[in-house]
Amino acid sequence: MDVSYNNSPSDDEEARFSAMPERTLPNILVTGTPGTGKTSTAEMVAQLTSFEHMEIGKLVREQQLHDGYLEEYDSLDLNEDKLLDYLEEELRDGGKVVDFHGSDLFPEDWFDLVVVLRTNNTLLYDRLQGRGYTESKVQENIECEIFQECLEEARSQFPEEMIVELVSETADQMESNAERIQQWAEAFMAKSKASP
Ligand SMILES: Nc1ncnc2c1ncn2[C@@H]1O[C@H](COP(=O)(O)OP(=O)(O)O)[C@@H](O)[C@H]1O
Ligand SMILES: [Mg+2]
Repeated sequence: MDVSYNNSPSDDEEARFSAMPERTLPNILVTGTPGTGKTSTAEMVAQLTSFEHMEIGKLVREQQLHDGYLEEYDSLDLNEDKLLDYLEEELRDGGKVVDFHGSDLFPEDWFDLVVVLRTNNTLLYDRLQGRGYTESKVQENIECEIFQECLEEARSQFPEEMIVELVSETADQMESNAERIQQWAEAFMAKSKASP
């Protein structure tokens, strides 16, 4: 079961969030169409860096950050306010790898790197079918990838220099993507410790 959310900006977004303090450990967002490998990649990054993997779908279920089940979408109805309140605390000290298909609900200064995973249609189709998704849900997600909705959404919310688009089609690519993110994290930490 997935988590559904709409892209409308929250009215009180400005009022509710004060700026996050500077972090010595980075927060990394891994986003992309369902099936592109967010959870597997984020888990690998967490192991390499000792950061904590936060899978939003799981968190929403376990912490009851939703308003019930939406039959039409076969997903939980995300309560954005509850999720953001919860995450704001969790992300404060950095060192988190967050994995979610959406990105424009998060304030820009919560993250230091935004990774958008990409997968070709044929492979994505097989992965989603293998997951037991209905044909219409598979199609919906394939279209999402074709129109690169997750990438556009990330671009609408985060500065271009924070965003890295990575192809995630083979096991080797997953490994090299995770290592690349690890190296980026190490560079961030070296820099943040070096500054006064
Ligand atoms: N780069 C990749 N190479 C091979 N298989 C992959 C790759 N990325 C993901 N997979 C496989 O595709 C499926 C979906 O991956 P998952 O991490 O659950 O995606 P997401 O969290 O984005 O929905 C899993 O079975 C996973 O093992
Ligand atoms: Mg996942």
